[in-house]
Parts: sequence; structure tokens; C-alpha cells
Amino acid sequence: MKNIISVIFFILISIAAIAQRKSNAQKVDSVLILMTLEEKIGQLNQYNDDWKATGPVTIDNKKADQIRLGQVGSLLNTLGTERTRSWQNIAMQSRLKIPLLFGQDVVHGFKTTFPIPLAEAASWDLDAMQLSARIAATEASASGIHWTFAPMVDIARDPRWGRVMEGAGEDPYLGSKIAYARVKGFQGTQLGDVNAVMACAKHFAAYGAAIGGRDYNSVDMSDRLLWEVYLPPFKAALDAGAATFMNSFNDLNGVPATGNKILQRDILKGKWGFTGFVVSDWGSIGEMINHGNVKNDYEAAWSAITAGSDMDMESRCYKNNLAQLVKDKKITVSLIDDAVRRILLKKFELGLFDDPFRFCNAEREQREINNPEHAKVAREIAAKSIVLLKNTNSLLPLSKQLKTIAFIGPLVKALKQNKGFWDIEVPGVDSNFIVSQWEGLQNKVGANTQLLYAKGCDIEGDDQSGFDEALEVAKQSEVVILSIGERRDMSGEAKSRSNINIPGVQEELLKALLATGKPVVVLINSGRPLVFNYTADHAPAILYTWWLGSEAGNAIADVLFGDVNPSAKLPISFPVSVGQIPIYYSHFNTGRPATNDSSHNYNSSYNDLSIFPKYAFGFGLSYTSFVYSNLQLNKKKMKKNEQIEASVTITNTGKADGEDIVQLYIRDEVGSIARPVKELKDFRKIKLNAGETKTIRFIITKEKLSFYAPHSVNNQQLQWVAEPGDFELMIGASAEDIKLRARFELIK
Ligand code: GLC
Repeated sequence: MKNIISVIFFILISIAAIAQRKSNAQKVDSVLILMTLEEKIGQLNQYNDDWKATGPVTIDNKKADQIRLGQVGSLLNTLGTERTRSWQNIAMQSRLKIPLLFGQDVVHGFKTTFPIPLAEAASWDLDAMQLSARIAATEASASGIHWTFAPMVDIARDPRWGRVMEGAGEDPYLGSKIAYARVKGFQGTQLGDVNAVMACAKHFAAYGAAIGGRDYNSVDMSDRLLWEVYLPPFKAALDAGAATFMNSFNDLNGVPATGNKILQRDILKGKWGFTGFVVSDWGSIGEMINHGNVKNDYEAAWSAITAGSDMDMESRCYKNNLAQLVKDKKITVSLIDDAVRRILLKKFELGLFDDPFRFCNAEREQREINNPEHAKVAREIAAKSIVLLKNTNSLLPLSKQLKTIAFIGPLVKALKQNKGFWDIEVPGVDSNFIVSQWEGLQNKVGANTQLLYAKGCDIEGDDQSGFDEALEVAKQSEVVILSIGERRDMSGEAKSRSNINIPGVQEELLKALLATGKPVVVLINSGRPLVFNYTADHAPAILYTWWLGSEAGNAIADVLFGDVNPSAKLPISFPVSVGQIPIYYSHFNTGRPATNDSSHNYNSSYNDLSIFPKYAFGFGLSYTSFVYSNLQLNKKKMKKNEQIEASVTITNTGKADGEDIVQLYIRDEVGSIARPVKELKDFRKIKLNAGETKTIRFIITKEKLSFYAPHSVNNQQLQWVAEPGDFELMIGASAEDIKLRARFELIK
């Protein structure tokens, strides 16, 4: 009986949703028919407000007049209920009173800052990442924001690229799961809820593969690589219901994404059936002139609108050229109507036509952005994002009975540094409320523990004059904690670096501190994988603390003293040297596989270095230990319409309760095209008390064995297929630490 009721309920909900969509579509058409061509073009026009520029600024003092004339559809970088209300009031003076959309880069928090996305990805905790996005959306929507330009779902395999901090690392499987969770978090139960914001999957597409890791640089790749590695997270975002997409600055094989019809119309709006809208990235329409694909703004507008870019962020190419393109019969009004419909539909779905000010409630704003629960969640996910890279002789966790601790380094008392790139400083709101690493330790230790501090050195520069004071402080302590790394603005947009060593003389400071004979725990703060071989080889304990946001200090102290057992694992390979880049675990075997044994020549090794990373994808230690055993497959052969169940036993053999991230990799041993030596196809993050044993199960389906094979079917050069043959299944604690293996066969 219960099942019947739930089926009926589901049917009714679906009917209601379809009816609502139909009703909104009808409402859109009832507005569209009233609009002049100029007003239609106005909806495709987005301006930056004056709070902060996140791109090259065009000075324009006539925004209010243009909004009154219905020539603007959206603003970005407008903050707070008061300011959004004032702009919306102006929009209500326009002839048709079409409400403005307010967009903002709410990437990892709004007033409460969460760890940078790459750090959160290290938690592999999809629920936590969804909750983080949910809270960000709750705070942002309470402050007038309708739309976040997030999640960034670009796969990145080059840590020289500064925006690696903004995504989920190198792997399409993990990246897809995270993309889905983050979209669900931002958009909540449904658009139209006043605490839901539109998500924006960006940057479509393959922006993270910029040659040389140089931001905005060209991308050159095969369709196979595009479909197999760079597109899946976008498809996952779409499947999660992402309301919008943002295209990318890069050209893909010579065609700028903004003017790329294959990406935007054939794949996104065609094959994938996307019904939302695409916003160009900042000025990217006009930048097609620099790319050399168009001669002028007129041609740029033509290229972008025909390729499927619906809204023009800050280039003014649409505002200044679309009417002329219609007049010259270069485009039809129906092309513009399609873009306008997509945008108006979202404004209806958000409820803005019913009440343009529904996101402008000052009382709700104060309540939500000061909700103490949000900081608690930020602290929890920050602690889950810290990766324990080394812990010689279990130096960590530290005892709370220590009498004297020296906390040294240029980041110990930093505040805003902990926010990382893409933070938001809401004017007039204490959005800088950050728990410094120093404060976090003070909050943690008791009255019997003395904390000593010395800066030691700056982040950059060769000044070692602070070393003496640091050494003096170290000698008085039982344990030294050294907090070093990058500045927060050394990663992020337009922050590509050719040298990804720890800057300045920070490792020299470590060397001097180690010479005192005191045990040193190193915290490494960064938005990217850094190269730090001296630290890695000599420090007894290392925590990778990324940029952890508002609660950084408390989260770090929770892990340092064992109130939280670190469980994070790297979502991206850490190179030994920048010379290894691009470096990623799911590489092909080649005809002469690299070995770490340099005596063998004539293989794909370097002559001067291993090809293997310093720290592998999926690597991370714990204060306890886990043993994997008893890998069982319920069958050794499976047909394409069948599945295999793999079970494995995990035991916590240590003395501390903890969480482990068990990874399942698969290798297709023979394919019509070479297949990677392994690919992540599933994972489980499981809690185990000390001494506890659990058996976990994975289901292997044809989907997990499929890849894009170059078959020419229905004019598609690539087809998503699973080819019969032998497969190896691996259970790993990281991509390079495979604990158990089994083989099975896929039969016709
Ligand atoms: C920037 C970024 C993009 C961001 C946009 C608005 O240039 O590339 O990710 O959403 O402009 O700030």
C-alpha cells in the first residue's frame, strides 16, 4: 500500500512540475511578445557592478540609465540586500519591469568562508561538500544574490595553473561526483526557494588543460580526451540540474569556447538537452578578436550568438552589435529570442516576476549571515580537508599536556590569508571573521601549556634576519609547529607560476629549526600542489592545510591535537619536480613502460628523475591504520547486461577511531584504443572505530567499464562502449598503493 501511495505522490509531483514548467514557458512567451528588439538584447547584457572587478573593467557611468531603458538583464558583483534592492528599484522603472538577475562568485562560501574547493575535494566527503554549498547559497541568497558562478568543474592536471585551487583536481570520476554534489548544494530542493541560488557549471570547456599551465592559454586535445576526462564533470553538473553554464576563455583546438558551436549548441544544448542559459566569461566575446577568430566586435557578437552564448558578461558586444546584425540579416531574431527565453525562464523560476525583491530581506540577511551553525560546519569540513602527508614515529597528534609549544612561521598569525582566492568581503559585514592559526591553538591548549611565537621569515624574499628569534623560541619549546607556504593570492585566476616550490627562505628556516633537534610539525598552506622535497624528506610530520577559510585555526588545532583524526586524501598528484608536469595517475602504459629502476634504458622514464609523483592521487595518512583483506568477486565473468559485486574487508588496526577512503580502480587490459593503467571507478569513505572491521561492497556495471572508442556510428566518431575482454580490479589506499587485486572478464 505504501508503495502505491509513494508512486501516486511521485506522479502528482511530476505532473505539477511539468505543469509549472509549461506555465513558466507560457509566461515567458507572454513577456517576449511585448518586447522590442532593444529590450530583448538588453536581457542578454550583463554588467559588473562597482563592488569589485574580477576582470578588466570598462568604465560606464550610465548603467542606471541603461537599466531604466531595459538595456541590462543582469549585474554581477553586487552585494547586499540594500544595494541589490536599489538596482532592482531602477529596473522596476523600465517599461516592462523585467527584474535583474544578480550574480556573484560564491565559490567557497559567502560570509562564512569554507576551505577552497580543492581542499574540500580532499575530503572526498560528498555530503559535506553539498552542505558547504548549501550554506554558501543560504547566506548569498539572503544577501540578494540569485546566481553563483560556481561550481568550477574544470579538471586540472597542471599545478602551475593557478585555478587548480578552484576545482576538484585531476580525476573525472571524483570530479563528477563533486560537481553533482555542489550543484545540488547551491540549488537546494528547487529553484524558487528563497534560499536557493542558480548554479553555474564552469568553464565550458577544458579550461584546465591550458598549455604550460598558463591561464587563458590555448587548449589542444583529442575528442577522446575531451569526452573521457574534461566533459564528464559538466555532464554531472547538468544531470544535477545546473541552471546555467559559463563558457571559458580558452580556445579549444583553435576555436574559442565562446564561439564554439560544437561545444555549446551541438553538445550542451543539443546532445545533452540543456534548457538553461550560457553566460560568457568576463569579456570573452570581445576577446575573440585577440584570439584572431573574428575581426571586430560585430563579428564577435555574430560568432558568439550563433554558437550559443546567451548572455554577454561585460564585453558589450551584444548591446552594440546584435541589432545591426539583425538589420543586416546576418542573424534572425529567433536566435535572440531563444537566448532571451532561456534567461526569462530562469527569472520566472526564481520567482522574480512575482516579487523582484524577494531576495532583498534585510532581516533575513542579518539572521543568515550570522548563523553560528555555519561556522561549526565550516570547522568540521575544514578539518576533513587537512591531509596528513607524514607522521614519523606518530609525532602527531600532539599531547594537550605539552608544557611549551613554539608556533613559528609567516602564516601563524595571518587572518585573510586563510580565506584563499575567491573569498567574499561583504561590505559592512564582518566577513573577515577568521580564526587565525595562532588563535586556533590558543583556543585549544590549556592554561598549563605555554605558546611561544616567532614569525621567522616572510613568505617571499631572502631575509633570514628573523631566524635567530625563531631558533631562540624553538629551543625553549618541546615541540615546534612551523606554518609555511604560499600567499593566498599566489593561486587563483591569472596566478599561474612556473616555479611551484615553497617560496622565499621558508624551507631554509625549517632546516635551521630541525638543526635544533626539536621535533617539527610542518603545516603547508597553499592553493595548489607545491614542490617541497626538503620538507618532505626531513620534517617528521607534515599536514597539508591548503586554505581552510573562516575556521582555519580551530580546524588545524582539532587535527594537531587529535580531536579530529585526519581522513583527507589528495584529489591531485603532487609532483617531485615541475619537470614532471603534466602528471596524473591515469596515464597510458606506453610501449616501453617507465620503471623506477633507472638501470633500464629505452623506456619512457626520465633519465634524471622518476615519473612517479611525490605524493600520489588518493594519498593521505591517518592517526590510525587500516588493513584491507578478503577481496571477493561474486563472479569472474559478466555479460554487458549483468553486474559483478566486489566485496572487501577493512579493519581499523590502530588505537584511534578514524575514517578511510577506500578506492576502487579498474584497468581494461586490452581496448580498441589503449586504456589507462588504472581509472578510479568508485570509492567509499567509511568510519571505523579502533579495532572495528567492516565489509564494503562495490557494484561493477558495464558503465564502469565503458570508454569512448573511435567507432564511426551515426556520424559520431566516438561511441561510449564497453569492449569484451579482461579487466583488473584494484582496491587501493591511493592510486600508487594498491592493496588487493582481482580479475574478471566481460563477455559479449
Ligand atoms: C572571471 C572568471 C570567472 C568568474 C567571472 C566573474 O574572469 O574567469 O570564473 O565567474 O570572471 O567574476
